[in-house]
Amino acid sequence: MRTSAVFILLVFVFLACQIFSITSGDTTSAKPKSFSSYDSQVEPLLAKMTLEEKIGQMTQAEHGGMKDIKDVEYYFLGSVLSGGNSDPETGNSLSSWTEVYERYQSRALKTRLAIPLLYGIDALHGNNNVLGAVIFPHNIGLGCTRNPQLVEKVSKITAEEVRATGINWAFAPCVTVPQDDRWGRTYEGFGETPELARTLGEAAVRGLQGDDLMNPLSVLACAKHFAGDGGTIFGTGVSKGPNTSEHWPLDRGDVRLSEKELRELHLQGYVSAIKAGVGSIMPSYSSWNGVKCSGSKRLMTEILKGEMGFEGFLISDYNALDELPGDSKSQIAQSINAGMDMVMVPEKYREFYSNLKSLVNEGKVPMTRIDDAVKRILRVKFAMGLMDKKRSLMADRNLQKNFGSAEHRAVARESVRQSLVVLKNDKKLLPLSKKPARIHMGGKSADDLGNQCGGWTISWQGQSGKDITPGGTTILQAVQNAVSKGTKVTFSKDGSGANGADVGIVVVGETPYAEMFGDSTDLSLSKEDLAAITNMKKAGIPVLVILLSGRPMIINEALEQCDAFIAAWLPGTEGQGVADVIFGDFKPTGKLSFSWPRSMSQIPVNISDKSYNPLFKYGYGLTW
Ligand code: GLC
Repeated sequence: MRTSAVFILLVFVFLACQIFSITSGDTTSAKPKSFSSYDSQVEPLLAKMTLEEKIGQMTQAEHGGMKDIKDVEYYFLGSVLSGGNSDPETGNSLSSWTEVYERYQSRALKTRLAIPLLYGIDALHGNNNVLGAVIFPHNIGLGCTRNPQLVEKVSKITAEEVRATGINWAFAPCVTVPQDDRWGRTYEGFGETPELARTLGEAAVRGLQGDDLMNPLSVLACAKHFAGDGGTIFGTGVSKGPNTSEHWPLDRGDVRLSEKELRELHLQGYVSAIKAGVGSIMPSYSSWNGVKCSGSKRLMTEILKGEMGFEGFLISDYNALDELPGDSKSQIAQSINAGMDMVMVPEKYREFYSNLKSLVNEGKVPMTRIDDAVKRILRVKFAMGLMDKKRSLMADRNLQKNFGSAEHRAVARESVRQSLVVLKNDKKLLPLSKKPARIHMGGKSADDLGNQCGGWTISWQGQSGKDITPGGTTILQAVQNAVSKGTKVTFSKDGSGANGADVGIVVVGETPYAEMFGDSTDLSLSKEDLAAITNMKKAGIPVLVILLSGRPMIINEALEQCDAFIAAWLPGTEGQGVADVIFGDFKPTGKLSFSWPRSMSQIPVNISDKSYNPLFKYGYGLTW
């Protein structure tokens, strides 16, 4: 009798757990299949491969650096990328990107073993290289949403718009934990805490890769840059070039932390990315206690692959091996022996291929290391279904009807709304009425899609301009769309002509930049921006300031002059999301993902500081 009662109880508990996991809406319950489970398919193929074919799999060339398309076959290339400025030579369009991808993939399929290519692209906030793609808020804005489900949805759409070109690998998410706002890549991080990197990094991997990498809508994700890229010490940045002794302040600099501190602050995004099944990880250009991450056996093999159990493959950053000590061959030997599996050699792929072949023949890189690297790469290709001979590897053009669609833009607009942080709202100026007689708009960024999108948009550095990509909405256009027919919306970049208006809106902030070009020792608003705010204020009307920036800036003077202030970060193409909040259709919910400094002398300022007194604290954000 007792046995059957226990059995019934066990069945009840099991069923209850199943129901809970289904109804809890837990989108992260699906545990991805381990990459090592594909070894039974990988090993027979690996056994057939020549040394040349193996080294080819470890070689990634760039479209813009390709000497001859026949090199895909001659060097058995395992991957091609389009870096920041490596567009189709026939121009930038969905069809031209698709043609380039199919050109390379078709060549790869002509090789003896017909191992398909991975084609990689920096799809960081949408398929941001391609004209007409939906451009989402950069990670700094997504961090302020504190919404993993939304980040997963954004990443899922990004994957779909990448796949529309056939491309199958996104060098994202960046799970950096930026500690110094002067760093040019601050906006690529979700925030200054490991918590945001962990939760939102995991969500981004799940969105990009889906529950199953076999899904033709999934793309391979790449967590980056391992490890500590956002924790470098000011003044240790990379040299500005071979003919100068000048250095960038922070980018690719040195992290000086104990291993315990590094783990707690900078590795959490990788813990969760691995849990979510990330198939590739990109070691950082930067160093840890003087050792370049791209040459660190402790980091890449002992910690990441050994202890953390990462079973995918490591892809180097762009020519990152050039920054290791010694000549080319010793750089390659150091990095490969330390655990690098695939090397991003945009132009010098032929030299890399022959140098690595020599190193193996000279016994300086053991064949066991080559086999391990190729095994990892092939595991991922099998997991993605690329090796399935019945499967077409050309682009699915059915996906192209949703590229830049209204449905995708609606999700981007929702992410803009949830990313906005209201820092000031005196006299309850916000939400604004949709029916005033006149709204006067000012500021260099009010009608500038390029400044809305920031770096990594259409080009590597991005660019200012109203129409940098079709289908977007500037904040000026968004206000014009939102107000009543009887309301007049006027605009002057310098804020002049505001007299007589009911309210003024000034949109200011940064112009686009990427990587080291964004390193800055002065985060103050420009004189042009301050003048626009002053001109608006002179009209004696209430003033709302909207800041478009890749990081917190020094805004004390602007704060004093305005009645309301919103940090909008780099919202992307869907400026209508800003109007949704300022006119009250949606309440603001955004919370700061970075502490806001009072002055340049206070930077770096982070919630983890022992003495912590920022202008606005991490987590701050007003609502109504
Ligand atoms: C860049 C970046 C990296 C990017 C890669 C390919 O230098 O550091 O984030 O994925 O090169 O463009």
